[in-house]
Amino acid sequence: MGDLSKIETVVNWLQSSKKTVVLTGAGMSTESGVPDFRSASGWWTKTDPQQVATVDALESNYPLFHEFYSMRIQLLDKCSPHKGHYILADWEKRGILHHIATQNVDGFHSKAGSRKVDELHGSIYTFRCHSCGRDASKEAFLAKERCAHCQGCLRPNVVLFGEMLPENAWRSALSNIQSADVVIVIGTSLEVYPVNQLPMMTKGKKVYINKEAASHASYFDCILEGKAKEVIMELDDRLIG
Ligand code: OAD
Repeated sequence: MGDLSKIETVVNWLQSSKKTVVLTGAGMSTESGVPDFRSASGWWTKTDPQQVATVDALESNYPLFHEFYSMRIQLLDKCSPHKGHYILADWEKRGILHHIATQNVDGFHSKAGSRKVDELHGSIYTFRCHSCGRDASKEAFLAKERCAHCQGCLRPNVVLFGEMLPENAWRSALSNIQSADVVIVIGTSLEVYPVNQLPMMTKGKKVYINKEAASHASYFDCILEGKAKEVIMELDDRLIG
């Protein structure tokens, strides 16, 4: 749970901010039942990302790549946004929040009703051929079909290590963060470049919401240590308007 005086400080910043941007990572969705990557129960403690989440993995061991992403897609089909996602969407409608940039590929912010969302690491719900780039269906990917046009390997539209981030999403996130009065960073270890550079790009107040926040203590103007959903609910309880 966030410390009460810190919660009040952040609420004051939010109420006087003309532009607030949220940047989320996998910790935003763990309370929906989706594992993150680097916590004790995260994907990368069981699986080496080099073996499944790189261009080389896709090209040199497609069966393992396919198994990993199929498993994640099937798990996500059973999960849905939680109250924290819905509160952020409500803040957008109320003019409290202006933009979300996310590393998450689960689409939960949009599912909860947020409209201004930059998916910096792509989406796991749309698919293409890795060779010719043509769109493909989820069913074709899950059935391990080859591209109908060129026989290439099908893949989700997620960003793999070694690939560029989607340019429009990156530009939008960067310019929104640069011009923000408040940036709230939620549930990310900030281990992965280049998204981990984004919080440094603002002149606004920087807030970090994370269940284990110690390693970033000196960098943020305020740290609310706790679970994303609970801290967002605490902030929401005190926001007026
Ligand atoms: P990480 O797993 O690296 O970090 C998640 C952070 O959220 C950790 O600091 C956790 O302590 C924290 N956390 C977990 N549950 C939480 C909760 N309920 N409330 C608050 N904090 C919580 O995930 P990301 O930083 O998102 O990229 O990882 C960045 C990228 O690395 C991912 O997009 C993915 C991964 O490799 C690719 O695959 C390209």
